[in-house]
Amino acid sequence: MGGRFITFEGVDGSGKTTQLRRLAATLRAAGEAVVETREPGGATGAEAIRRLLVEGEPGRWSPETEILLFTAARRDHVERTIAPARARGETVLCDRFADSTRVYQGVARAGLRGMVDRLHELSIGIEPDLTLILDIDPEAALSRGLARGTAEDRFERFGLDFQQKLRAGFLALAAEFPGRCRVIRAEGSAEEVAARIAAAVMETP
Ligand code: TMP
Repeated sequence: MGGRFITFEGVDGSGKTTQLRRLAATLRAAGEAVVETREPGGATGAEAIRRLLVEGEPGRWSPETEILLFTAARRDHVERTIAPARARGETVLCDRFADSTRVYQGVARAGLRGMVDRLHELSIGIEPDLTLILDIDPEAALSRGLARGTAEDRFERFGLDFQQKLRAGFLALAAEFPGRCRVIRAEGSAEEVAARIAAAVMETP
C-alpha cells in the first residue's frame, strides 16, 4: 500500500500545525521522504474550496452543505496529493482528515455522523495508519487560536461550548478507533509535546 499515512487532529489552537512540522523534520533527519499537507486543502482545487469553508460568517453554510464541501475538497486532495505520494512510498503527514468531519460536522455542529460516514464510504474510503489526537483544554487552545489573528476563524467563532463538544467528540473517536488513534496530551512546551508524539510514532510500525 506504500508510504505511511499519519494524521493530526484536535480542537482549534491545539498546536497540531507546529507539531506536524516538527515531526516532519524528525522523520526527514532519519532519512524518510515526507509530504506535509493539510485539510481542507492540500491540492489546488481543495485549497479553493478551503477559502469557502474557513472564511466568513459562522452561519454561511448549513452543516449538511459543509459536509459536502469538506468531502469534495478531501476527494481532490486524496486524488492529487495523498494517493500519489503514498504510491511513491513517501510518508504523508496530514493536518486534519476525515475525523475532523466526523467530529465537527458529525457531532459538534449537528448530529450528522450517518451522513458523514455514508459520504466517506462512497467517495473517500481510506483511513490513516495512525491518528494523533492532540488533547488540550479548549479555553487555553481557543485563546491561542484567536490570537493568530487570521481571517480563517469561522469555526473558532462558534465559541467555547462548541470547542468543548469538539474535545469530547475527539476523545470518543479515539475510543471508537483504538487501533489507529493515539491521544497525545498537548499541554506543556512544544518540545515536550513533540517528544510524546515521537514516542507514539516510533511504537507504530
Ligand atoms: P485548520 O484551522 O486546522 O486549518 O482547519 C480549518 C477549520 O476547518 C478548523 O476550524 C476545523 C474545520 N474543519 C471542519 O469543520 N471539518 C473538517 O472536515 C475539516 C478538515 C476542518
